[in-house]
Amino acid sequence: MRRDNQSQKLVFPKDFLWGAATAAHQVEGNNKGNDWWEWEKRKDIKASGIACDHYRRFKEDFALAKKLNHNAHRFSIEWSRIEPEEGKWNDEAVKHYQNVLQTLKEEKLKTFVSLYHVTLPLWFAKKGGFEKKENIEYFKRFCLFAVKALADKVDFWVTINEPKTIVAAGYLQGFWPPQKKNRLLALRVYRNLALAHKEVYQAIKNEFPNAQVGAVINMPALHYYGNHFLSRAVPSFIKIFLNHSFYRLTGKTHDFLGLNYYLFHQLRFQDLKTKVNKKKLEKTILLESSDLGWQFYPQGIYEVLTSLKKYNLPIYITENGVADAKDKYREKFIINHLQWVHQAIQEGVDVRGYLYWSLIDNFEWSFGFKPRFGLIEINYKNQERKIRKSAYAYAKICKENAIIL
Ligand code: FCB
Repeated sequence: MRRDNQSQKLVFPKDFLWGAATAAHQVEGNNKGNDWWEWEKRKDIKASGIACDHYRRFKEDFALAKKLNHNAHRFSIEWSRIEPEEGKWNDEAVKHYQNVLQTLKEEKLKTFVSLYHVTLPLWFAKKGGFEKKENIEYFKRFCLFAVKALADKVDFWVTINEPKTIVAAGYLQGFWPPQKKNRLLALRVYRNLALAHKEVYQAIKNEFPNAQVGAVINMPALHYYGNHFLSRAVPSFIKIFLNHSFYRLTGKTHDFLGLNYYLFHQLRFQDLKTKVNKKKLEKTILLESSDLGWQFYPQGIYEVLTSLKKYNLPIYITENGVADAKDKYREKFIINHLQWVHQAIQEGVDVRGYLYWSLIDNFEWSFGFKPRFGLIEINYKNQERKIRKSAYAYAKICKENAIIL
């Protein structure tokens, strides 16, 4: 709708969810019982330590989210806190997450809870984690336990966050635990994660038929160019494999689709064949990029959203954000991506929410604390929180349920 000659108001659907996301190990601090904590003991790896001390300061953080007009929040519960030893359940941790959810409900925020977001209990990892099909039982048991304890306050359950990243970083490139580089094993883990999702989905739905259960998949925008005759065929195979294989493996076990959108890759067949340095190639076409060098390509969110239309399911953008310590690009980044989300909605894609990554600066896995994704800045010396300017711009969008251009 045009308001006048200069400005345009892009209104989002009624009841659209607006908010931000976090994950346990990245913000809580002292998650001593998981595989990452163990791995961080190595000298060359940054340790998460007390992170943002969010385990103790969650009320303060949620009050800020409320102040910023968020009406939804996504976070993960830490399996290693709830089941620190095989079969031993920790009441204190369960009470904690009940309390976290109660606080969010009191603030009137809808809740997305992830059951597996990167970290695994050390005891489970030692058993081989998802490398072994028979271990899925342990994950399923934990999920059911957690869902039973928390169900009344959770609006959306996420079984697994970014299965592809878990496999790529842990089993192909080997820069996350368990630091293996084994293609066959990687495929097996991927298959087991798909099986785990399906089994957990069924188990939750058997007990709670009305629960909303889905997985979160990261999808990069992928472009190909070049005039080699295989320039289209090979890359479109890669595209299906990268972006849609999890849905193919898991069939109808999704009540909604969770999309994480960050990355844009340009490839040409020749590069795949000759192993031309892709980084170098991307540099030559680099426009603006984040502190991590991730190129901005807002139109890509539209491209992946429209590719999801065929599933006929509600879509929630469960993560989209930028590492930008100086807060130079964040406002523009959010607005530009939302313009394209709006465009996808206009074309009939059923997008129902947008969760910015992240509410607060946090521990960015193997990159440590340097990347600053937060709407809220954390001073790690004294744990002071400071709302960034861009967060107020986003707050305005959340309040208006619209972007004004
Ligand atoms: C996603 C992860 C999230 C965070 C962002 C930057 O892939 O799900 O935990 O690390 O990237």
